[in-house]
Amino acid sequence: MKNPFEYGGVVGGGAFCNREKELKDLVRAMENAEKLFVFSERRYGKTSLVRAALRKLPGNGYVSTYVDLWPTDSEATFVTTVARVIAESLSSSVEKMLQTSKKFFGSLSPSVTVDQQGKATLAFGLAKPAQVEAALEEVLETPARIAAKGGPRVVVVFDEFQQILEYGNDHVERKLRSVIQNHQEVGYLFLGSRKHLIQKMVLDRKRPLYRAGGHYPLGPIAEEHWQPFIRQRFNDAEKRIDEPHIHELCHMTQGHPFYTQHLCHLLWELCEPNAEVSGKMIQAAVKVLLDRESYAYTTQWESLTLPQKRFLKGLAAEAAGVKVFAGEFVHRYGLVSASNAQRAVQVLLAKDIIDQDNGSFLVTDRFFRLWIQSAQRA
Ligand SMILES: Nc1ncnc2c1ncn2[C@@H]1O[C@H](COP(=O)(O)OP(=O)(O)OP(=O)(O)O)[C@@H](O)[C@H]1O
Ligand SMILES: [Mg+2]
Repeated sequence: MKNPFEYGGVVGGGAFCNREKELKDLVRAMENAEKLFVFSERRYGKTSLVRAALRKLPGNGYVSTYVDLWPTDSEATFVTTVARVIAESLSSSVEKMLQTSKKFFGSLSPSVTVDQQGKATLAFGLAKPAQVEAALEEVLETPARIAAKGGPRVVVVFDEFQQILEYGNDHVERKLRSVIQNHQEVGYLFLGSRKHLIQKMVLDRKRPLYRAGGHYPLGPIAEEHWQPFIRQRFNDAEKRIDEPHIHELCHMTQGHPFYTQHLCHLLWELCEPNAEVSGKMIQAAVKVLLDRESYAYTTQWESLTLPQKRFLKGLAAEAAGVKVFAGEFVHRYGLVSASNAQRAVQVLLAKDIIDQDNGSFLVTDRFFRLWIQSAQRA
């Protein structure tokens, strides 16, 4: 039997846990043609959630365009990526894509080329920077043109949206601001990591997208949803796990979807059919995980200064929401002063080792957190 716990890729179907409320919220946002920034820590399930929400839209009458900006690194690659995805979402064959592209993106000189495997693909010719500007305008106006005059409803999703910070200029950001303000018939979702999206783009008054749309922070999956999800998947394989042990798991991973799935994956492998998960088994699964990461974690640990290590030890040991600049924390973990703690925080944030969390901080990698807890590290 295949392991039912998946981690790493986009999950759907049987590997997708709950998110009922979030699904409802996002489907409503799309139906209402809202402009929404969806952000969370890394690997919290943004892509999986939005793809599930797109599948819930009625197929008829909606054109949905999902653009993964991860591979883009410039205004020009942004333009051709978006153009290609729009053409794909409107047409089923390469020939139709060419027709669609000629209709909407004339300035991109679309053509069909045949690759070495004999497969036909759509190609765009973008030579001069001056052309890029015109093409950007053309491509980003297309969703509204499709939706105009009783056309289909259009939803556009930009995933890994923080990628636009790498383009070297803010043309795309500026153009998107006017798109957000003027395309009343089109829904836009912007997905990205909290750190980049929120701090750098939408909370900075000097940036074009400052407060341009609504904010939708995505949280962890609550234990009450993990409980039936995890129990059922063990039961389906004639394995058993009781409520206190699922509680222990969720406590260790803080409900983080990726780490919870990863730990469950290992535990499911360790638990034989007809057996029941024990505390020892959980410890064994964690040990396997930490042994695998040991080299990487040790290297990372050794690159830190003493106050940074002390800060992390404190953060890993305390419950979520701990006041890290309060005298009690500072003294308990040997940080000497609040300004020492401040300095450690700045570096650890910049290195993505910790992240902000409701006025406090947390260790981003939940397994690193367990590793720090597991030994008396000086
Ligand atoms: N609803 C869910 N139920 C169960 N597991 C989930 C769920 N959402 C996410 N996961 C777990 O988290 C992993 C990452 O999910 P996904 O790629 O959707 O997150 P993401 O926030 O888009 O990540 P990234 O920051 O890398 O873009 C999945 O492989 C899966 O293990
Ligand atoms: Mg993603």
